[in-house]
Amino acid sequence: MAEKKLPPIVSGGWPLAGHALEFSNNPDQLIRRGIQEHGDIFRLKLLNKNAVVLNGAKLHKFFYLETDKSLNINDVYGMLEAAFGQVLFIASNESYENQRPLLQFTFSREKMAGYVIAMQAETQRWLDSLGDSGEVNMTREMQVLAQNVAGHAFLGANFRDELNQEFWQAYETLGRSLDPVLPPHWPLPKFKARDKAKKYIREIFQPIIAKRRANPEAYDDLVVQMLSTPQKDGSMMDDELITSLFMGLIFAGHETTAGQAAWLIYELCQNDQYQNRLRDEIASQIGYDTPITGGTLRNLKQTYWAIDETTRLHPSAPLQLRIAKQDIELEGLTIPAESLVMVHSAHHHFDEAIWTDPYTFDPDRWSPERKEGKNSYDIISFGGGRHKCTGMNFAKNEMAVIVGLLLQQFELEALSEDVHTMMNVGAFRPSEIITRYKKKRIEAEAVEKDQLAVPV
Ligand code: HEM
Repeated sequence: MAEKKLPPIVSGGWPLAGHALEFSNNPDQLIRRGIQEHGDIFRLKLLNKNAVVLNGAKLHKFFYLETDKSLNINDVYGMLEAAFGQVLFIASNESYENQRPLLQFTFSREKMAGYVIAMQAETQRWLDSLGDSGEVNMTREMQVLAQNVAGHAFLGANFRDELNQEFWQAYETLGRSLDPVLPPHWPLPKFKARDKAKKYIREIFQPIIAKRRANPEAYDDLVVQMLSTPQKDGSMMDDELITSLFMGLIFAGHETTAGQAAWLIYELCQNDQYQNRLRDEIASQIGYDTPITGGTLRNLKQTYWAIDETTRLHPSAPLQLRIAKQDIELEGLTIPAESLVMVHSAHHHFDEAIWTDPYTFDPDRWSPERKEGKNSYDIISFGGGRHKCTGMNFAKNEMAVIVGLLLQQFELEALSEDVHTMMNVGAFRPSEIITRYKKKRIEAEAVEKDQLAVPV
Protein backbone atom coordinates (compact mmCIF):
# COMPACT_ATOMS: atom_id res chain seq x y z
CA MET A 1 0.00 0.00 0.00
CA ALA A 2 1.36 3.47 -0.90
CA GLU A 3 2.52 5.47 2.09
CA LYS A 4 0.33 8.36 3.11
CA LYS A 5 1.82 11.75 2.33
CA LEU A 6 1.04 14.31 5.02
CA PRO A 7 0.76 18.02 4.18
CA PRO A 8 4.21 19.62 4.57
CA ILE A 9 4.91 21.41 7.84
CA VAL A 10 5.64 25.13 8.07
CA SER A 11 9.03 26.22 9.39
CA GLY A 12 9.52 27.49 12.94
CA GLY A 13 7.85 26.11 16.05
CA TRP A 14 9.12 24.91 19.40
CA PRO A 15 9.41 21.53 21.09
CA LEU A 16 6.09 20.65 22.80
CA ALA A 17 4.31 23.96 22.02
CA GLY A 18 4.90 23.63 18.26
CA HIS A 19 3.60 26.78 16.50
CA ALA A 20 1.06 27.57 19.26
CA LEU A 21 2.77 30.73 20.45
CA GLU A 22 3.20 32.24 17.00
CA PHE A 23 -0.35 31.19 16.09
CA SER A 24 -1.71 33.05 19.13
CA ASN A 25 0.43 36.16 18.68
CA ASN A 26 0.87 36.58 14.96
CA PRO A 27 -1.30 34.12 13.00
CA ASP A 28 -1.14 36.22 9.80
CA GLN A 29 2.63 35.93 9.62
CA LEU A 30 2.52 32.18 10.24
CA ILE A 31 -0.19 31.52 7.62
CA ARG A 32 1.51 33.69 4.99
CA ARG A 33 4.84 31.97 5.62
CA GLY A 34 3.25 28.51 5.32
CA ILE A 35 1.69 29.40 1.96
CA GLN A 36 4.92 30.93 0.71
CA GLU A 37 6.87 27.81 1.69
CA HIS A 38 4.42 25.08 0.65
CA GLY A 39 1.44 26.43 -1.31
CA ASP A 40 -2.27 26.08 -0.51
CA ILE A 41 -2.15 23.09 1.90
CA PHE A 42 0.28 22.89 4.76
CA ARG A 43 0.47 21.78 8.34
CA LEU A 44 1.35 23.33 11.66
CA LYS A 45 1.53 21.96 15.18
CA LEU A 46 -0.59 23.44 17.95
CA LEU A 47 0.64 21.85 21.17
CA ASN A 48 0.16 18.13 20.46
CA LYS A 49 -2.34 18.64 17.61
CA ASN A 50 -1.85 18.56 13.86
CA ALA A 51 -3.54 21.51 12.19
CA VAL A 52 -3.94 21.69 8.42
CA VAL A 53 -4.45 25.03 6.70
CA LEU A 54 -6.46 25.16 3.45
CA ASN A 55 -6.07 28.26 1.30
CA GLY A 56 -7.69 29.56 -1.88
CA ALA A 57 -11.24 29.58 -3.27
CA LYS A 58 -11.19 25.93 -4.36
CA LEU A 59 -10.08 24.64 -0.96
CA HIS A 60 -12.33 27.07 0.92
CA LYS A 61 -15.23 25.57 -1.02
CA PHE A 62 -14.09 22.08 -0.05
CA PHE A 63 -13.89 23.17 3.60
CA TYR A 64 -17.41 24.61 3.70
CA LEU A 65 -19.11 21.93 1.61
CA GLU A 66 -17.48 19.07 3.54
CA THR A 67 -18.65 20.52 6.87
CA ASP A 68 -21.06 18.07 8.57
CA LYS A 69 -19.66 15.38 6.23
CA SER A 70 -15.96 14.52 6.57
CA LEU A 71 -15.36 17.71 8.57
CA ASN A 72 -16.92 18.23 11.96
CA ILE A 73 -17.86 21.71 13.20
CA ASN A 74 -19.64 20.68 16.43
CA ASP A 75 -16.68 19.65 18.56
CA VAL A 76 -14.05 22.07 17.40
CA TYR A 77 -15.15 25.28 19.08
CA GLY A 78 -14.66 23.98 22.62
CA MET A 79 -14.01 27.56 23.74
CA LEU A 80 -17.46 28.62 22.49
CA GLU A 81 -19.20 25.65 24.05
CA ALA A 82 -17.52 26.33 27.40
CA ALA A 83 -18.84 29.90 27.26
CA PHE A 84 -22.34 29.43 25.83
CA GLY A 85 -23.35 25.75 26.04
CA GLN A 86 -24.43 23.38 23.29
CA VAL A 87 -26.13 25.65 20.80
CA LEU A 88 -26.08 26.52 17.11
CA PHE A 89 -23.21 24.85 15.26
CA ILE A 90 -21.56 23.77 18.49
CA ALA A 91 -24.51 21.50 19.28
CA SER A 92 -24.86 17.99 17.83
CA ASN A 93 -26.19 17.81 14.26
CA GLU A 94 -29.56 16.69 15.55
CA SER A 95 -29.91 19.61 17.99
CA TYR A 96 -28.68 22.03 15.33
CA GLU A 97 -31.32 20.77 12.88
CA ASN A 98 -33.90 21.22 15.62
CA GLN A 99 -32.86 24.84 16.22
CA ARG A 100 -32.82 25.83 12.54
CA PRO A 101 -36.52 26.77 12.17
CA LEU A 102 -36.14 29.32 14.93
CA LEU A 103 -32.95 30.71 13.38
CA GLN A 104 -34.56 30.96 9.96
CA PHE A 105 -37.54 32.84 11.38
CA THR A 106 -35.33 35.06 13.56
CA PHE A 107 -33.37 36.23 10.52
CA SER A 108 -36.24 36.30 8.03
CA ARG A 109 -36.95 39.34 5.85
CA GLU A 110 -40.16 39.77 7.84
CA LYS A 111 -38.24 40.34 11.08
CA MET A 112 -35.54 42.55 9.55
CA ALA A 113 -37.76 45.67 9.29
CA GLY A 114 -38.19 45.59 13.10
CA TYR A 115 -34.44 45.14 13.61
CA VAL A 116 -33.71 48.16 11.41
CA ILE A 117 -36.02 50.23 13.63
CA ALA A 118 -34.02 49.04 16.66
CA MET A 119 -30.73 49.90 14.90
CA GLN A 120 -32.01 53.36 13.98
CA ALA A 121 -33.33 54.06 17.50
CA GLU A 122 -30.19 52.94 19.33
CA THR A 123 -27.82 54.70 16.93
CA GLN A 124 -29.78 57.95 17.19
CA ARG A 125 -29.85 57.67 20.98
CA TRP A 126 -26.05 57.29 20.95
CA LEU A 127 -25.57 60.25 18.59
CA ASP A 128 -27.86 62.41 20.73
CA SER A 129 -25.73 61.58 23.77
CA LEU A 130 -22.54 62.86 22.11
CA GLY A 131 -23.32 66.57 22.32
CA ASP A 132 -21.99 69.08 19.79
CA SER A 133 -18.35 68.10 19.79
CA GLY A 134 -15.78 66.00 21.63
CA GLU A 135 -13.53 62.97 21.45
CA VAL A 136 -14.41 59.30 21.95
CA ASN A 137 -12.71 55.94 21.61
CA MET A 138 -14.73 54.67 18.64
CA THR A 139 -13.79 51.03 19.31
CA ARG A 140 -15.39 51.20 22.74
CA GLU A 141 -18.37 53.24 21.51
CA MET A 142 -19.13 50.60 18.87
CA GLN A 143 -18.92 47.82 21.45
CA VAL A 144 -21.55 49.48 23.62
CA LEU A 145 -23.73 50.52 20.68
CA ALA A 146 -23.69 47.00 19.20
CA GLN A 147 -24.67 45.60 22.61
CA ASN A 148 -27.58 48.00 22.77
CA VAL A 149 -28.69 47.20 19.23
CA ALA A 150 -28.62 43.46 20.01
CA GLY A 151 -30.46 44.03 23.33
CA HIS A 152 -33.13 46.18 21.67
CA ALA A 153 -33.54 43.92 18.60
CA PHE A 154 -33.88 40.71 20.59
CA LEU A 155 -35.46 41.84 23.87
CA GLY A 156 -37.43 44.94 22.87
CA ALA A 157 -37.10 48.69 23.43
CA ASN A 158 -37.21 48.30 27.23
CA PHE A 159 -34.27 45.89 27.35
CA ARG A 160 -32.35 48.23 29.70
CA ASP A 161 -34.83 47.39 32.47
CA GLU A 162 -33.74 43.75 32.25
CA LEU A 163 -30.10 43.75 31.14
CA ASN A 164 -27.97 45.90 33.42
CA GLN A 165 -24.34 47.02 33.17
CA GLU A 166 -23.13 43.96 35.08
CA PHE A 167 -24.80 41.73 32.50
CA TRP A 168 -22.74 43.28 29.69
CA GLN A 169 -19.58 43.21 31.79
CA ALA A 170 -20.14 39.49 32.36
CA TYR A 171 -20.64 39.15 28.63
CA GLU A 172 -17.33 40.82 27.90
CA THR A 173 -15.66 38.41 30.34
CA LEU A 174 -17.05 35.54 28.25
CA GLY A 175 -15.62 37.15 25.11
CA ARG A 176 -12.19 37.58 26.66
CA SER A 177 -12.11 33.91 27.67
CA LEU A 178 -12.26 32.64 24.07
CA ASP A 179 -8.96 31.02 23.14
CA PRO A 180 -8.59 28.82 20.06
CA VAL A 181 -5.42 27.14 21.35
CA LEU A 182 -5.60 26.45 25.11
CA PRO A 183 -7.97 23.68 26.30
CA PRO A 184 -11.00 25.51 27.78
CA HIS A 185 -11.08 23.42 30.97
CA TRP A 186 -7.56 24.33 32.14
CA PRO A 187 -7.72 26.01 35.59
CA LEU A 188 -6.59 29.43 34.33
CA PRO A 189 -7.90 32.70 35.85
CA LYS A 190 -9.61 33.71 32.59
CA PHE A 191 -11.49 30.40 32.43
CA LYS A 192 -12.51 30.66 36.07
CA ALA A 193 -13.79 34.19 35.41
CA ARG A 194 -15.70 32.83 32.39
CA ASP A 195 -17.51 30.22 34.49
CA LYS A 196 -18.45 32.83 37.09
CA ALA A 197 -19.75 35.18 34.40
CA LYS A 198 -21.72 32.41 32.75
CA LYS A 199 -23.41 31.54 36.04
CA TYR A 200 -24.25 35.20 36.63
CA ILE A 201 -25.77 35.60 33.16
CA ARG A 202 -27.91 32.52 33.68
CA GLU A 203 -29.20 33.93 36.97
CA ILE A 204 -30.16 37.19 35.25
CA PHE A 205 -31.91 35.25 32.56
CA GLN A 206 -34.15 33.09 34.70
CA PRO A 207 -36.65 35.85 35.62
CA ILE A 208 -36.61 37.15 32.03
CA ILE A 209 -37.86 33.78 30.79
CA ALA A 210 -40.21 33.25 33.72
CA LYS A 211 -41.99 36.60 33.12
CA ARG A 212 -42.57 35.73 29.47
CA ARG A 213 -43.74 32.22 30.25
CA ALA A 214 -46.29 33.65 32.69
CA ASN A 215 -47.46 36.46 30.41
CA PRO A 216 -46.45 35.88 26.75
CA GLU A 217 -48.99 38.36 25.30
CA ALA A 218 -47.23 41.24 27.02
CA TYR A 219 -44.03 40.71 24.99
CA ASP A 220 -43.02 40.54 21.35
CA ASP A 221 -39.39 39.49 21.35
CA LEU A 222 -36.95 36.68 20.70
CA VAL A 223 -37.54 34.97 24.05
CA VAL A 224 -41.29 34.73 23.38
CA GLN A 225 -40.48 33.43 19.93
CA MET A 226 -38.27 30.77 21.46
CA LEU A 227 -40.97 29.84 23.93
CA SER A 228 -43.61 29.54 21.22
CA THR A 229 -41.71 28.12 18.18
CA PRO A 230 -41.61 24.32 18.14
CA GLN A 231 -38.30 22.77 17.21
CA LYS A 232 -38.06 20.73 14.03
CA ASP A 233 -38.98 17.52 15.91
CA GLY A 234 -42.03 19.23 17.44
CA SER A 235 -40.58 19.55 20.96
CA MET A 236 -40.39 22.90 22.76
CA MET A 237 -37.14 24.41 24.05
CA ASP A 238 -36.43 24.23 27.76
CA ASP A 239 -35.14 27.20 29.79
CA GLU A 240 -31.56 25.96 29.65
CA LEU A 241 -31.57 25.85 25.86
CA ILE A 242 -33.35 29.20 25.54
CA THR A 243 -30.74 30.83 27.76
CA SER A 244 -27.83 29.27 25.86
CA LEU A 245 -29.29 30.15 22.47
CA PHE A 246 -30.03 33.70 23.50
CA MET A 247 -26.52 34.09 24.90
CA GLY A 248 -25.03 32.65 21.71
CA LEU A 249 -27.05 34.95 19.47
CA ILE A 250 -26.36 38.08 21.50
CA PHE A 251 -22.66 37.25 21.42
CA ALA A 252 -22.60 36.49 17.69
CA GLY A 253 -24.75 39.56 17.17
CA HIS A 254 -22.59 42.16 18.84
CA GLU A 255 -18.92 41.23 19.28
CA THR A 256 -18.18 40.72 15.61
CA THR A 257 -20.25 43.62 14.33
CA ALA A 258 -18.77 46.08 16.84
CA GLY A 259 -15.21 45.48 15.62
CA GLN A 260 -16.20 45.68 12.01
CA ALA A 261 -18.16 48.93 12.49
CA ALA A 262 -15.21 50.55 14.28
CA TRP A 263 -12.84 49.56 11.46
CA LEU A 264 -15.31 50.91 8.89
CA ILE A 265 -15.44 54.31 10.59
CA TYR A 266 -11.66 54.35 10.90
CA GLU A 267 -11.14 53.54 7.21
CA LEU A 268 -13.58 56.29 6.23
CA CYS A 269 -11.69 58.76 8.41
CA GLN A 270 -8.52 57.87 6.47
CA ASN A 271 -10.26 58.29 3.12
CA ASP A 272 -11.79 61.75 2.83
CA GLN A 273 -12.69 61.26 -0.78
CA TYR A 274 -14.72 58.13 -0.18
CA GLN A 275 -16.21 59.56 3.00
CA ASN A 276 -17.50 62.53 0.99
CA ARG A 277 -19.01 60.23 -1.58
CA LEU A 278 -20.89 58.41 1.18
CA ARG A 279 -22.05 61.74 2.63
CA ASP A 280 -23.40 62.65 -0.81
CA GLU A 281 -25.07 59.27 -1.14
CA ILE A 282 -26.74 59.67 2.25
CA ALA A 283 -27.81 63.26 1.49
CA SER A 284 -29.35 62.26 -1.85
CA GLN A 285 -30.90 58.95 -0.79
CA ILE A 286 -31.94 59.70 2.80
CA GLY A 287 -31.71 63.45 3.43
CA TYR A 288 -30.23 65.62 6.16
CA ASP A 289 -32.45 64.81 9.12
CA THR A 290 -34.55 61.85 8.05
CA PRO A 291 -34.40 58.48 9.83
CA ILE A 292 -33.10 55.47 7.91
CA THR A 293 -35.60 52.67 7.25
CA GLY A 294 -35.45 49.20 5.75
CA GLY A 295 -36.77 50.75 2.53
CA THR A 296 -34.15 53.50 2.21
CA LEU A 297 -31.22 51.34 3.36
CA ARG A 298 -31.03 49.41 0.14
CA ASN A 299 -30.30 52.60 -1.81
CA LEU A 300 -26.98 53.06 0.00
CA LYS A 301 -25.00 51.04 -2.53
CA GLN A 302 -21.62 52.68 -1.98
CA THR A 303 -22.03 52.30 1.77
CA TYR A 304 -22.44 48.54 1.35
CA TRP A 305 -19.33 48.40 -0.87
CA ALA A 306 -17.41 50.11 1.94
CA ILE A 307 -18.79 47.52 4.38
CA ASP A 308 -17.72 44.64 2.13
CA GLU A 309 -14.30 46.19 1.74
CA THR A 310 -13.93 46.49 5.52
CA THR A 311 -14.85 42.84 6.06
CA ARG A 312 -12.20 41.89 3.46
CA LEU A 313 -9.45 43.98 5.06
CA HIS A 314 -10.31 43.50 8.73
CA PRO A 315 -12.48 40.42 9.26
CA SER A 316 -13.70 39.90 12.83
CA ALA A 317 -13.59 36.11 12.40
CA PRO A 318 -10.59 35.52 10.10
CA LEU A 319 -10.12 31.95 11.30
CA GLN A 320 -12.65 29.12 11.05
CA LEU A 321 -12.03 25.61 12.32
CA ARG A 322 -13.15 22.03 11.79
CA ILE A 323 -11.95 18.55 12.82
CA ALA A 324 -11.28 15.79 10.27
CA LYS A 325 -13.63 12.93 11.13
CA GLN A 326 -11.61 10.47 9.05
CA ASP A 327 -8.47 10.42 6.91
CA ILE A 328 -9.13 12.83 4.04
CA GLU A 329 -7.37 12.57 0.68
CA LEU A 330 -6.95 16.00 -0.86
CA GLU A 331 -4.70 17.17 -3.70
CA GLY A 332 -2.50 14.05 -3.38
CA LEU A 333 -2.04 14.55 0.38
CA THR A 334 -3.64 12.88 3.39
CA ILE A 335 -5.15 14.92 6.19
CA PRO A 336 -5.09 12.48 9.11
CA ALA A 337 -8.30 11.84 11.10
CA GLU A 338 -8.58 14.05 14.21
CA SER A 339 -6.50 16.86 12.66
CA LEU A 340 -7.72 20.39 13.09
CA VAL A 341 -8.55 21.79 9.66
CA MET A 342 -8.75 25.54 9.18
CA VAL A 343 -9.26 28.37 6.74
CA HIS A 344 -7.77 31.78 7.43
CA SER A 345 -8.15 35.02 5.52
CA ALA A 346 -4.58 36.29 6.09
CA HIS A 347 -3.33 35.37 2.63
CA HIS A 348 -6.31 34.98 0.32
CA HIS A 349 -8.03 38.26 1.22
CA PHE A 350 -4.80 39.96 0.09
CA ASP A 351 -3.87 37.83 -2.90
CA GLU A 352 -2.70 40.09 -5.76
CA ALA A 353 -3.99 37.59 -8.28
CA ILE A 354 -7.53 38.46 -7.13
CA TRP A 355 -7.46 41.93 -5.64
CA THR A 356 -5.91 45.02 -7.25
CA ASP A 357 -3.65 46.79 -4.78
CA PRO A 358 -4.92 44.47 -2.00
CA TYR A 359 -3.77 46.45 1.05
CA THR A 360 -5.62 49.60 -0.08
CA PHE A 361 -9.14 50.42 1.15
CA ASP A 362 -10.90 50.60 -2.20
CA PRO A 363 -14.68 49.99 -1.93
CA ASP A 364 -15.14 50.49 -5.68
CA ARG A 365 -13.60 47.06 -6.25
CA TRP A 366 -17.07 45.75 -5.20
CA SER A 367 -18.92 47.76 -7.87
CA PRO A 368 -20.63 45.82 -10.68
CA GLU A 369 -18.10 47.32 -13.14
CA ARG A 370 -15.05 45.92 -11.33
CA LYS A 371 -16.56 43.05 -9.35
CA GLU A 372 -13.31 41.75 -7.89
CA GLY A 373 -13.46 38.52 -5.89
CA LYS A 374 -16.08 37.11 -8.28
CA ASN A 375 -15.86 33.67 -6.73
CA SER A 376 -17.94 33.71 -3.56
CA TYR A 377 -15.28 31.57 -1.82
CA ASP A 378 -12.67 34.30 -2.32
CA ILE A 379 -14.06 36.01 0.75
CA ILE A 380 -14.53 34.08 3.99
CA SER A 381 -15.46 36.86 6.42
CA PHE A 382 -18.94 35.39 7.01
CA GLY A 383 -18.04 31.74 6.42
CA GLY A 384 -19.74 29.67 3.72
CA GLY A 385 -21.96 26.70 2.95
CA ARG A 386 -24.58 25.47 5.34
CA HIS A 387 -23.19 27.26 8.38
CA LYS A 388 -22.64 30.60 6.65
CA CYS A 389 -23.38 33.43 9.05
CA THR A 390 -27.13 33.67 9.53
CA GLY A 391 -26.74 37.20 10.84
CA MET A 392 -24.80 38.57 7.86
CA ASN A 393 -27.58 40.86 6.63
CA PHE A 394 -28.31 41.94 10.18
CA ALA A 395 -24.64 42.90 10.61
CA LYS A 396 -24.33 44.70 7.27
CA ASN A 397 -27.57 46.62 7.79
CA GLU A 398 -26.48 47.61 11.28
CA MET A 399 -23.18 48.96 9.98
CA ALA A 400 -25.00 50.84 7.21
CA VAL A 401 -27.39 52.46 9.71
CA ILE A 402 -24.55 53.41 12.08
CA VAL A 403 -22.28 54.91 9.46
CA GLY A 404 -25.22 56.46 7.59
CA LEU A 405 -26.53 58.38 10.59
CA LEU A 406 -23.05 59.25 11.83
CA LEU A 407 -22.02 60.82 8.51
CA GLN A 408 -25.43 62.44 8.13
CA GLN A 409 -24.98 64.31 11.41
CA PHE A 410 -21.26 64.58 12.29
CA GLU A 411 -17.85 65.58 10.93
CA LEU A 412 -15.14 63.10 11.99
CA GLU A 413 -11.40 62.92 12.42
CA ALA A 414 -9.50 59.86 13.70
CA LEU A 415 -6.64 60.97 15.95
CA SER A 416 -5.09 57.59 16.83
CA GLU A 417 -2.05 56.39 14.96
CA ASP A 418 -0.90 52.79 14.67
CA VAL A 419 -4.41 51.32 14.92
CA HIS A 420 -3.97 47.55 14.81
CA THR A 421 -5.99 44.37 15.25
CA MET A 422 -6.52 43.14 18.81
CA MET A 423 -6.70 39.38 19.17
CA ASN A 424 -7.73 37.13 22.04
CA VAL A 425 -10.39 39.60 23.12
CA GLY A 426 -13.41 37.74 21.73
CA ALA A 427 -13.92 38.57 18.09
CA PHE A 428 -11.00 40.44 16.53
CA ARG A 429 -11.36 44.20 16.72
CA PRO A 430 -9.27 47.36 16.29
CA SER A 431 -7.22 48.84 19.09
CA GLU A 432 -8.33 52.20 20.50
CA ILE A 433 -9.49 54.68 17.82
CA ILE A 434 -9.68 58.12 19.40
CA THR A 435 -12.01 60.07 17.15
CA ARG A 436 -12.76 63.78 17.21
CA TYR A 437 -16.31 64.66 16.20
CA LYS A 438 -18.28 67.81 15.55
CA LYS A 439 -21.98 68.09 14.92
CA LYS A 440 -22.85 69.30 11.44
CA ARG A 441 -25.02 72.38 11.13
CA ILE A 442 -27.83 70.40 9.57
CA GLU A 443 -30.54 73.04 9.51
CA ALA A 444 -28.23 75.68 8.08
CA GLU A 445 -27.02 73.34 5.33
CA ALA A 446 -30.50 72.14 4.49
CA VAL A 447 -31.88 75.69 4.39
CA GLU A 448 -29.03 76.83 2.16
CA LYS A 449 -29.73 73.99 -0.25
CA ASP A 450 -33.48 74.76 -0.21
CA GLN A 451 -32.78 78.40 -0.96
CA LEU A 452 -30.55 77.41 -3.82
CA ALA A 453 -33.36 75.28 -5.17
CA VAL A 454 -35.81 78.23 -5.23
CA PRO A 455 -35.67 80.07 -8.55
CA VAL A 456 -35.13 83.79 -8.13
C1 HEM B 1 -19.61 41.54 11.04
C2 HEM B 1 -20.26 40.72 11.82
C3 HEM B 1 -20.20 39.21 11.76
C4 HEM B 1 -19.20 38.39 11.33
C5 HEM B 1 -17.82 38.78 10.81
C6 HEM B 1 -19.68 37.02 11.49
C7 HEM B 1 -18.96 35.89 11.14
C8 HEM B 1 -19.47 34.61 11.15
C9 HEM B 1 -18.78 33.46 10.65
C10 HEM B 1 -17.38 33.46 10.04
C11 HEM B 1 -19.57 32.38 10.83
C12 HEM B 1 -19.27 30.93 10.40
C13 HEM B 1 -18.39 30.21 11.39
C14 HEM B 1 -17.83 28.93 10.82
O1 HEM B 1 -18.15 28.51 9.72
O2 HEM B 1 -17.00 28.32 11.52
C15 HEM B 1 -20.79 32.84 11.45
C16 HEM B 1 -21.85 32.04 11.82
C17 HEM B 1 -22.95 32.53 12.47
N1 HEM B 1 -23.24 33.83 12.78
FE1 HEM B 1 -22.13 35.44 12.31
N2 HEM B 1 -20.94 37.06 12.02
C18 HEM B 1 -21.30 38.37 12.19
C19 HEM B 1 -22.48 38.84 12.68
C20 HEM B 1 -23.50 38.06 13.13
C21 HEM B 1 -24.72 38.55 13.70
C22 HEM B 1 -25.09 40.02 13.80
C23 HEM B 1 -25.43 37.46 14.09
C24 HEM B 1 -26.76 37.39 14.77
C25 HEM B 1 -27.42 38.40 15.24
C26 HEM B 1 -24.68 36.28 13.73
C27 HEM B 1 -25.09 34.98 13.92
C28 HEM B 1 -24.45 33.87 13.44
C29 HEM B 1 -24.96 32.52 13.56
C30 HEM B 1 -26.28 32.11 14.22
C31 HEM B 1 -24.03 31.66 12.95
C32 HEM B 1 -24.13 30.15 12.83
C33 HEM B 1 -24.79 29.76 11.54
C34 HEM B 1 -24.99 28.27 11.42
O3 HEM B 1 -24.20 27.48 11.93
O4 HEM B 1 -25.97 27.90 10.77
N3 HEM B 1 -23.51 36.68 13.16
N4 HEM B 1 -20.69 34.21 11.63
